[in-house]
Amino acid sequence: MQAKQSIREKANWAWGKAIWTWLPASDREAGDSIVRNFLLHWFPAKVSRESLSWNYSFWLGTISAILFLILTVTGTFLMFLYVPSVERAYLSVKDLEYTVSFGWFLRGLHRISAHLMVAVVFLHMVRVFLTAAYKNGAAVNQNRPVNWIVGVVLLLVTLFLSFTGYLLPWDQLAYWAITVGTNIASAAPVAGEWMRFILLGGNTIEQNTLIRFYVLHCFFLPLIVLALFSYHMWRVRKDGGLACVDKEALAQKKEKVAPIKSKTYSLLGITSGVTVHVETSLVDEDKHTVQSSPNLTRRLLLVTLATLAVASILTFIFHAPLEEPANPAITPNPAKAPWYFLWLQELVTITTFSIGGFTINGALIGGIIVPGILVAAAILWPYFDKSPARSTGVWFAKERRRQNMIFLLVVLFILVLTIVGTFLRGPYWNFYWPWESWPEMPRKF
Ligand code: HEM
Repeated sequence: MQAKQSIREKANWAWGKAIWTWLPASDREAGDSIVRNFLLHWFPAKVSRESLSWNYSFWLGTISAILFLILTVTGTFLMFLYVPSVERAYLSVKDLEYTVSFGWFLRGLHRISAHLMVAVVFLHMVRVFLTAAYKNGAAVNQNRPVNWIVGVVLLLVTLFLSFTGYLLPWDQLAYWAITVGTNIASAAPVAGEWMRFILLGGNTIEQNTLIRFYVLHCFFLPLIVLALFSYHMWRVRKDGGLACVDKEALAQKKEKVAPIKSKTYSLLGITSGVTVHVETSLVDEDKHTVQSSPNLTRRLLLVTLATLAVASILTFIFHAPLEEPANPAITPNPAKAPWYFLWLQELVTITTFSIGGFTINGALIGGIIVPGILVAAAILWPYFDKSPARSTGVWFAKERRRQNMIFLLVVLFILVLTIVGTFLRGPYWNFYWPWESWPEMPRKF
């Protein structure tokens, strides 16, 4: 009896660690539910009202993280059924589609969530730029530019994660999209061919490539995303919360009220001989902050359910394609890279031209130089942005009008090229309006 009781007590204790009071009756209970709970303890006990608003961050970073979670869960189940060998890969995906119960849904949800994640991470970057959330504001010990750079790396890893997954069904779509994608990358001077060789495990896409892409896709790249994401979140907290909080902090500075030193990391302080503290940007906590439980937890649950619902509905509407098995001897015309690299494929086409018998290599300009400049500019931008701190966390701050214009023009340029490459290119990469029919040709892309 005694032993039974203690097992029940232990179970209750474990359950208590995993759940929390949904509607805390007091501030004390609200605070406790955050700090005592295993899942919630990485949130602050209180958050600013502004950062909870729907139309500051649009919760795009949170949605990216939820999509990553959906991908991890569905991907784990897919691993039970998928076989990474050129003889069996296609057949195992076909089994998933037509034989395994709800296999089509599992595969479809994974695929849609991967597409959505690429798009949402990109939109998250656009919102961070337009709100100047990569700038330091009023509090000490901030380093938002570093978090922006971590973000740029996260975007690149997300693209690569999606690209490596693209090959796995081993159908014509997968095979040729990866062929086009890796051909673009091989145009890099000096190291291009070598990089392609290392990535493919040879000169052509075959078994070595499949197993490399599989290991990168299922193990290394998700781990890198997880590690970078954890650092990303830690930095958000260390920087005093979302950048919109700094607006209020600056307003208070004008009132000449000193910020409070809210948290001391005493052990760290003892070892380094100083008291390391985080100065919250806010003084008047009652005015600017609310309890995370239930204000943040409820919104988080809502965003999670909405993301899952949208991804599921899209899975029903857009069935994941599966073409004929990969065939290196039959090249589809046109052969297209995955949609998020089509702007590069388009750029390669428009920068390839001849002057007096001399051909300009579009693959180098469009595939390497332009994207290289864009990534370098993205990394360095926070250090060149000299706009005043009051524009931090403000949508379309007037002091940053010119920067926002330049950024939006680049975004527009990428979007237009993506649309042209996706919808308006036909056989031999010729231009066709949607209402124009293509000449008799296998219509595969
Ligand atoms: C896997 C990709 C990513 C995930 C899961 C992620 C997740 C998040 C989350 C959850 C937040 C908190 C607030 C919010 O929802 O906006 C955030 C904030 C932030 N993210 Fe990301 N992020 C990713 C990629 C990026 C990228 C590509 C950039 C920029 C290049 C970026 C830069 C930032 C910055 C600077 C903040 C602080 C924003 C502020 O203070 O207002 N992140 N991220």
